[in-house]
Amino acid sequence: YRLSGCSFKYPSRVNVLKRVWFTKWNKYNPEDLKTDPVYAGRVSYSSQWKNYTLTIRDLRESDSAVYRFRFETNQKNFTGLPGVTLTVTALQVHVGRSSNSNWATLTCQSSCRLNYHSSYNWYKNGHKVSSRNKYWYSVNLNPSDSYSCAVRGYEDFSSPSVCLNVKYLLDAPKFASVLVLNNSHEIVEGSSVNLTCSSDANPAANYTWYKDKKPVNTEQQLTFSSIQSSDSGEYHCTAKNELGQRPSEVIFINIVEGSSVNLTCSSDANPAANYTWYKENKLLLHGPVGRYHLSSISSEDSGNYSCKAENLYGPAQSVTLYIDVECKYFSEQLRKHV
Ligand SMILES: *[C@@H]1O[C@H](CO)[C@@H](O)[C@H](O)[C@H]1NC(C)=O
Ligand SMILES: *[C@@H]1O[C@H](CO)[C@@H](O)[C@H](O)[C@H]1NC(C)=O
Ligand SMILES: *[C@@H]1O[C@H](CO)[C@@H](O)[C@H](O)[C@H]1NC(C)=O
Ligand SMILES: *[C@@H]1O[C@H](CO)[C@@H](O)[C@H](O)[C@H]1NC(C)=O
Ligand SMILES: *[C@@H]1O[C@H](CO)[C@@H](O)[C@H](O)[C@H]1NC(C)=O
Ligand SMILES: *[C@@H]1O[C@H](CO)[C@@H](O)[C@H](O)[C@H]1NC(C)=O
Ligand SMILES: *[C@@H]1O[C@H](CO)[C@@H](O)[C@H](O)[C@H]1NC(C)=O
Ligand SMILES: *[C@@H]1O[C@H](CO)[C@@H](O)[C@H](O)[C@H]1NC(C)=O
Repeated sequence: YRLSGCSFKYPSRVNVLKRVWFTKWNKYNPEDLKTDPVYAGRVSYSSQWKNYTLTIRDLRESDSAVYRFRFETNQKNFTGLPGVTLTVTALQVHVGRSSNSNWATLTCQSSCRLNYHSSYNWYKNGHKVSSRNKYWYSVNLNPSDSYSCAVRGYEDFSSPSVCLNVKYLLDAPKFASVLVLNNSHEIVEGSSVNLTCSSDANPAANYTWYKDKKPVNTEQQLTFSSIQSSDSGEYHCTAKNELGQRPSEVIFINIVEGSSVNLTCSSDANPAANYTWYKENKLLLHGPVGRYHLSSISSEDSGNYSCKAENLYGPAQSVTLYIDVECKYFSEQLRKHV
């Protein structure tokens, strides 16, 4: 920026001793900008005829000031008044967040009064995205994007880029949900079950687990390495951060005791037979008693079962029985049936 308004005249018999641009007095002496550390390396003077020009590079908002010129001679000192008022402004993008959505409203702001009718360019990640004539712009709040703006016609003086930083996404938990880590419909005593609470809170939430409305744990995951029927109950969690708290839905955990099933093979052989049980033609059990005991039946026990009874007169093969283990109730009926 050049302040070139100062030209001055003096009689030729006068010696000019000093010419300075300044903004501040240091007692009775003006403080030469060239010696002011704030302007170090950024100011230069050039003289041309009776014209003494100040140039400031890398102009900053803090350079806003009244600049005055002074020259001192062997006879008199002169200070140019009232001086030149310089106002430096920079555009800035401000991010305003609408409370209930992932949209943000960007505004291009300046400390100077800009012409109300100015047109603005908007840049997303360095590329022009809008030449809408507005000083505001609505965007999707995506933390990887950065935006800047410029007044049209002054594209070289665009604002610094503003990242849609994660700080703009700070929010109370909008939901909390429970995930039961066991995909089977029923959870049998002794199985491993994890309940995990999750939420979208930012900053991350603290979690509390409740069983039958009483707090039981403050971990995010409630772990049962071997769940018992006494663990049956109503579970829910809450997610809480500095901005708020939210409860999850309530889930009912019902632990059933493992059903026991006996498959019995009998024959009227004389002398008594010995018995062999097969599942899918693979040998399961062989012995003098025709009973195959399943202590805790599960769907993996579904399949084709058969048995063979054998004494010294020869073997007899049973029909094949298909057992479909679907749920507790089925396995109870099965037990009665068998
Ligand atoms: C003073 O110098 C500046 C820069 O060299 C020039 O732009 C300006 O026209 C000059 N003014 C006069 C009155 O000579
Ligand atoms: C001009 O100002 C200088 C200091 O800035 C001072 O030392 C000097 O006496 C002044 N000259 C006159 C004639 O007032
Ligand atoms: C889920 O429960 C079943 C019985 O209900 C159990 O056999 C299985 O191991 C459990 N799954 C996991 C991943 O623990
Ligand atoms: C539950 O969590 C524990 C510890 O994190 C893990 O060892 C176990 O495999 C998990 N069980 C299930 C069913 O995910
Ligand atoms: C979350 O837990 C940490 C550690 O216990 C605690 O310092 C913090 O204040 C808690 N935050 C909230 C919102 O309760
Ligand atoms: C299976 O047989 C064993 C031994 O006789 C018995 O203790 C158990 O109660 C039987 N189970 C069922 C379901 O009948
Ligand atoms: C049981 O046998 C039937 C008839 O042979 C067959 O279709 C079915 O796939 C078998 N089931 C299993 C689990 O092997
Ligand atoms: C089962 O009975 C058959 C016929 O008596 C006999 O050959 C076989 O050795 C017996 N097997 C066992 C394990 O007792």
